[in-house]
This record gives sequence, C-alpha cells and structure tokens, in this order.
Amino acid sequence: MSDLQEEERMKSEIRIAPSVLSADFAAMGDAVEKLEKCGADMIHCDVMDGTFVPKLTFGCDMIAAIRRHTSLPLDVHLMVVNPQNQVRYFAEAGASIITVHREACGDDLKNVLRLIRNCGPRCGVVINPDTSLKEVYDCLEFCDTLLIMSVFPGLGGQKFIEHVLPKVEEARRIFDAQGIAKDIEIDGGITEENVRRVKDAGANVIVTGNTVFKSADMAKTILNLKTL
Ligand code: DX5
Ligand code: ZN
Repeated sequence: MSDLQEEERMKSEIRIAPSVLSADFAAMGDAVEKLEKCGADMIHCDVMDGTFVPKLTFGCDMIAAIRRHTSLPLDVHLMVVNPQNQVRYFAEAGASIITVHREACGDDLKNVLRLIRNCGPRCGVVINPDTSLKEVYDCLEFCDTLLIMSVFPGLGGQKFIEHVLPKVEEARRIFDAQGIAKDIEIDGGITEENVRRVKDAGANVIVTGNTVFKSADMAKTILNLKTL
C-alpha cells in the first residue's frame, strides 16, 4: 500500500454504531441517551418489515422518537421489501444514513440510492453473507457506505460468519485503488474477540448489538471495540 493510500485509509476512522435492536424497546429514549454518554459514534436502527425478514421491529415514527433523544447520527438499516416507498419517511424522521439491501432492490439499486441522496441522508448498500461483492460493483461509486452483513439479517445475537472477511478485504482494496476513504460497515456477531480481525480486513464502522447491551460496563466495552 502506498503512503497516499495509507493516508486515505487512516481517514476511514473507526466508529462504533451500537444497534438498538438489543435495547429495551419500552425505554428507547434512555437507551440512546446512555449510548451517547458511553461514547457511541452512531446509533444503528434495524428496521424489519416481517417480509424481507420474518420479524417486525419499528418504522419511521420510532426514528423520529430516537432523534429527539440524541444528536448522534442515526444509521437506519432498512430490512424491508420495496425500500423506495419508505425512504422519504425515514429521511423526514431524521435518518442521517439510510442503507438498503441489494437483495431487496435488485436492479433498481442505483435508483434507490439516488432517491435517498435526493431526500437528504447519505446512502448505503447492504449485502447478505451469501451475496457476492460483484453484485454491487456497479453501485459502489454511488454509495457513501457499504454494509457487509456478517450474519443473515433478522436477529441479534447470532454467531459471526467468518467467511465474509475476504469480501471486506476486497471492498477495501477497491476503495483504496480508487483513492476513496469510503465507509465499510460490518454488522452481526461482532465481539471484543473478533473486532480486531474485521478492522484489519478494512471495516471501519462496527455495528454491535448484544456485545454492547449485554455488557456490564457499556462505556468500557465501546472503548474496547474502538481501540482493540
Ligand atoms: C441483524 C441486525 C443487526 C443486529 C446486530 O439483522 O442487522 O444490526 O442487531 O446484533 P448483534 O451484534 O447482536 O449480532
Ligand atoms: Zn443492522
């Protein structure tokens, strides 16, 4: 890696994005305030529609409610079919970033990314563990974030799928070659034991649900995830 590439890489600073999927939904305001006090960099919000994934979580009104409790960026991960119908509502609710699945958008992905940007938030592409990076090569230049799932979406607390790491490495190589310090986000099964490996592979935005919420010392766990 050249000095310039290394410099660009450094710009992709490590950020921790705890997922409120693991929070007590009846005390969501307290949960996000605590995350902010404990050093979280972003709040990851998992929106599930009961069709793209089996369960339902919450919609844009919850995002608006969370927005009133924190000034941190809200990273909205849409696990929904037809995300293009929802983008405007999540943008109005205060989403800072909206990420959509390749598997949900199909060939319309570029248009959905454009729609997100036109509505205001930054945009991101998500790929499941069994979707290859090739499927989104042509969209990488149009997104701000690439979110690589390290579990199959739908549930918190699953085991990290190791074989997604080469995909993270490949994505970082592509961004480095283009001289772009783009965010690579990883989501699912991240722990204090495996976080070093995902960072080494090139991920810089670390989503983590259970590891943070089940910890006895949230601030220490967030700091460890950031610095380990
Ligand atoms: C899974 C979600 C994740 C999940 C991560 O569908 O997208 O964001 O909350 O939770 P952990 O870190 O517990 O695997
Ligand atoms: Zn998520």
